Amino acid sequence: MTDTSAALVPIRIDPPEQPLTGLRRLRTMVTNPMEGWPAAVYREPMVTFRVFGRNVTFVMAPALIREVLLDQSDAFVKGDIPRRTLGTVLGEAILTADGAHWRWQRRAAAPAFRHEHVAALIPAILAAAERRRAAWSSLAKGTELNVAHEMMRTTFDIILDALLSGRDSVDAAKTEQAITDYVATMGWAVALAMLRLPGWIPFPGSRAAARGRDYLREVAASAVTRVRQGELDGGSLLSLLAKATDPSTGRSMDDRDLADNFLTFMAAGHETTALALTWSFYLLSLHPDAEERILSEIQEVTGGEQLRPEHIENLKYTSWVVQESMRLYPPAALLLREPLRDIQLGGLTIPAGTQTYVPTYAVHRHALLWDDPDRFEPERFRPELADKRDRYAYLPFGAGPRICIGMSFALTEAVAVLATLLRSFRLSLRPNYRPRMQLQVTLRPAGGMPMRLHRR
Ligand code: HEM
Repeated sequence: MTDTSAALVPIRIDPPEQPLTGLRRLRTMVTNPMEGWPAAVYREPMVTFRVFGRNVTFVMAPALIREVLLDQSDAFVKGDIPRRTLGTVLGEAILTADGAHWRWQRRAAAPAFRHEHVAALIPAILAAAERRRAAWSSLAKGTELNVAHEMMRTTFDIILDALLSGRDSVDAAKTEQAITDYVATMGWAVALAMLRLPGWIPFPGSRAAARGRDYLREVAASAVTRVRQGELDGGSLLSLLAKATDPSTGRSMDDRDLADNFLTFMAAGHETTALALTWSFYLLSLHPDAEERILSEIQEVTGGEQLRPEHIENLKYTSWVVQESMRLYPPAALLLREPLRDIQLGGLTIPAGTQTYVPTYAVHRHALLWDDPDRFEPERFRPELADKRDRYAYLPFGAGPRICIGMSFALTEAVAVLATLLRSFRLSLRPNYRPRMQLQVTLRPAGGMPMRLHRR
């Protein structure tokens, strides 16, 4: 293979043949745990190995994933790690809670994500995409942008608009910095949890993380005050959550629940979508043919007019590109579970408390599930092919009762933002730059995604 063609292969992790041990294991756990996953994770149905004296089971076969996420989901909790990492800032909200405390919140919040509410948000999504387009229009030709950061700002704008019906009351730059400082230390928090060490032990960045956490809690408290005082539009997501009740128990959210869920939706609802967009721009820069097809599709669907809400669901090929990007680079690259009791899985007994992982990144590139898994091929999502695939072979949004509540919001948003920006600009990767993946709660490009802006 020549150098040029090597540069066109989307980046991938080269797994070690055997699980890493000792200091190398600790280093990858803090910097990028995916680099420690052994090659067997990409070719076996299920693998168990020891990490710091603890068994960790990786589940890749779709039938077994279905057992974990659906059929036996009552036997699993998210467990210690999410609580010790995300839970210290997000509290026990929908993403981090388990059992009955998760169930009533999920039932209460579900109506806010019904089709009509998501559809009502599309004009705000398109307006935010348009603001980003206008900002880029004022830049000189060839300007280099960190597209990862640009997408974070765009989707942050959108989630704040959705939650509060307006973004002006939150200092976006400070809030984003607080999230970044907090997330940057997650690897350490996971390592301490795996080593069963207490969470208060200081580690690099822990003070900045604590400041970030305190700032985020202040932002949430002030949003809750505003919604309680009736200052928000009734259609905003936070107002819907404040009014929501669980139909089974009649329970509704107190101020603490509301603040926890506000932060949860703010965090879960922007970073993931921003990453899906960032990786899509990266892949399109390697595949100009796919970009051309998107442009023709937009032209066909809009007739050359401004993008309108009703156009979005007809941008089918654009959505295949987003889905293929999330296959190669799933923003949630690892789903964590822990069985509450001993369970049977694939003929083996998994003892209670075993860390049980569904590594979506590896499932999406598994040798038994995909042809030429490392190749970018949006056509895989053509309905004739996608319908034949096992439901549990492709899980960017998870599956079962804990499937992402914001899935249709996220897909609509990603397609709308991608289409709006691609129409006016082409982005090319900084010459000779190879991004590097890093799993820090979500799958990010370490060091950002430097790309040059070209006007069409
Ligand atoms: C491309 C964008 C997104 C991706 C890839 C994504 C992925 C996921 C995944 C994989 C899960 C399940 C985690 C697990 O089973 O352990 C999840 C849960 C969740 N997501 Fe998303 N998400 C995205 C966008 C959003 C958006 C836009 C929102 C909110 C507006 C959101 C809110 C949530 C919440 C609250 C949960 C927890 C659900 C529960 O446990 O009941 N996500 N997401």
